[in-house]
Amino acid sequence: MNKTWFNVSDIEKMTPKEKVSLTEEYVNPGMIKLLKILGFDNPWGVSAEGVYIDLNDGRKILDMTGGSCVLGLGHNHPRILEVRKKFAENKRMEICKAFVSPYVAALAANMASLLPGDLQYSYFCGGGADAIESALKLAQKYGGKNRLGLVYTDHSFHGKSFGAMSVSSMEEHRHNFQLLEKCYKVPYGDIDALGKLFRSRCSENNKIPDICAFILEAVHGTRIIFPPEGYLKKVRELCTQYDVLLIIDEIYVGFGRTGYWFAFEADGIVPDIVCYSKSFGGGKASIAGFTARKPVFLQAYGKSGDSMIHSSTFSGMGEECATAIEAVNIIKDERLVERARELGGYLEMRLNELKEKHPKRIIDVRGRGLLWGVELKPAASQIEPIIKRFFPDKLSSLFALTGAIVLSEFFHTHNILSYLGFTRRNLIVFSPPYLIEKEELDQAVSALDAILSTSWFVLSQRFVARYMRN
Ligand SMILES: Cc1ncc(COP(=O)(O)O)c(C=O)c1O
Repeated sequence: MNKTWFNVSDIEKMTPKEKVSLTEEYVNPGMIKLLKILGFDNPWGVSAEGVYIDLNDGRKILDMTGGSCVLGLGHNHPRILEVRKKFAENKRMEICKAFVSPYVAALAANMASLLPGDLQYSYFCGGGADAIESALKLAQKYGGKNRLGLVYTDHSFHGKSFGAMSVSSMEEHRHNFQLLEKCYKVPYGDIDALGKLFRSRCSENNKIPDICAFILEAVHGTRIIFPPEGYLKKVRELCTQYDVLLIIDEIYVGFGRTGYWFAFEADGIVPDIVCYSKSFGGGKASIAGFTARKPVFLQAYGKSGDSMIHSSTFSGMGEECATAIEAVNIIKDERLVERARELGGYLEMRLNELKEKHPKRIIDVRGRGLLWGVELKPAASQIEPIIKRFFPDKLSSLFALTGAIVLSEFFHTHNILSYLGFTRRNLIVFSPPYLIEKEELDQAVSALDAILSTSWFVLSQRFVARYMRN
């Protein structure tokens, strides 16, 4: 192993080749292999503003990923930059565990005002899985030792830490680990299955099950799946009836993505705990959190002796909280939730036109607000030789390859960045910043049209040629 050393200023002088070899040597060699297939290893986003990324090779890329829903406000929103600059210039105190933070207090108060009902007490942390872990612990503390069970659905992604993965349906990852016990899976959208499970977990003389919480996404973000109409309301009723806490994970779609501040609001319910992150940090702060209903939080952690059962060194960092306060204010001031809803209606129309035009290539178009997915029929027989060469004996790779070909074509031919459903690789996902203009949405739709108007054979040839050149 080479020993090497960098200062921050050295990074400016680093070549793309060095970046790749350092990542290969010190970060994750397998990841580099995957990025090489897409030709995503060499490019480098040197700067970014709004909906565009400037690459090291001089290209300007339209970012239709919105940083996987982190960038509702786009890259480097001026108000976000300003609030962080001021924080630094004023030498604000970041870490002092002895005092109460005014930034945490203000952000928590804002969240209580933003959220419906008696959702009142908040905890802030560094990332989505962290927020989920914190919510699961709160639920178990609320339920007590005899009610540690957790229910999740078969369409769920809540993060990759142990607790979060224990309540996620990512079978391809789960089998590698010893996950939490007493986690029960029900089909997403199936209220009867949930009722049956709750009943089956009650003892003869107790009408309350040995379950403390049901966790779900109001919209399953990574595959863009919606529950049937009325499902969330019935879930709310059932959870109330059985005193099971309802945890809604809004990490992916919270803060306007679906044209509602929070996706669960489309159904008019109030969960017991809401988890959020991504656009909460304005594209700069790594911040996540949960807000819990008053009686739930007080029962779990209300006593002084219990008040520090859950905490973390870097929870509620001042600069991150100040950034989140500004991010939420920008969404309010610039009416970005309404904008996401309006532009979403336009994108829906354009994508459905495309579906009509390419019935043999598109299986489904689905989404809400500025989160849309286009599910493609996998490229099949034409690319069999490539599958044999690159992914022998892996038919599921056909889906991944289909997505990879389209992603690569978007990027290399059309200067557009898009991404794929996390567990559904033939799902092309658009989740651009809310600041995107109609013309830019048109640009992305036209690019997809051009890709789908080209045969898989030609697309595959180009894909392989790019790989060979790389
Ligand atoms: C719905 C949902 N929950 C939880 C997470 C985990 O968040 P993180 O990656 O910040 O741990 C994600 C990440 O994409 C997510 O989409």
